[in-house]
Amino acid sequence: MVKLVILLLSATLLSACDQLDPEKVRARNFLPTIGYQASAVDGEARYQALCARCHGSGLGGGTEGPPLLDRTYAPSHHADLAFYHAVKNGVRQHHWKYGDMPMLTGITPEQVGDIVAFVRREQQQVGVR
Ligand code: HEC
Repeated sequence: MVKLVILLLSATLLSACDQLDPEKVRARNFLPTIGYQASAVDGEARYQALCARCHGSGLGGGTEGPPLLDRTYAPSHHADLAFYHAVKNGVRQHHWKYGDMPMLTGITPEQVGDIVAFVRREQQQVGVR
């Protein structure tokens, strides 16, 4: 009986630790692994493939999406987290009149991190900070 209780207790503790594992928490929240070095160069290619059709190849927006070079998307207004959230869950129309952004699949948090590095680099170049 005592053995059973100890077994149950340790199983509970182990699974609690597992849930607190920082890497698992990050994965659950669709965030890159700790220490991931984002690449703006890879991000640019990924952006052109997945985001440009709506947000414009020069980030100036299009008929289906807003310009990511707008001050609205400066880091002080939309933190990096907004990008991970937008890709994972989509975005309900709220700032503009382009409609909703659909959630995107087949993209990893690390790839979103690359895209964020690219977008931030481009924003810096036009003084959006
Ligand atoms: C089918 C069109 C479409 C595609 C593809 C698309 N977006 Fe969007 N996105 C939108 C629209 C529309 C909005 C604006 C919604 C609003 O605020 O009214 C938006 C908003 C956003 C926002 C702001 C979210 C917020 O919190 O307000 C971010 C960040 C974003 N998109 C990033 C991306 C990235 C990164 C990609 C590519 C991986 C991408 N989008 C692909 C249409 C698109």
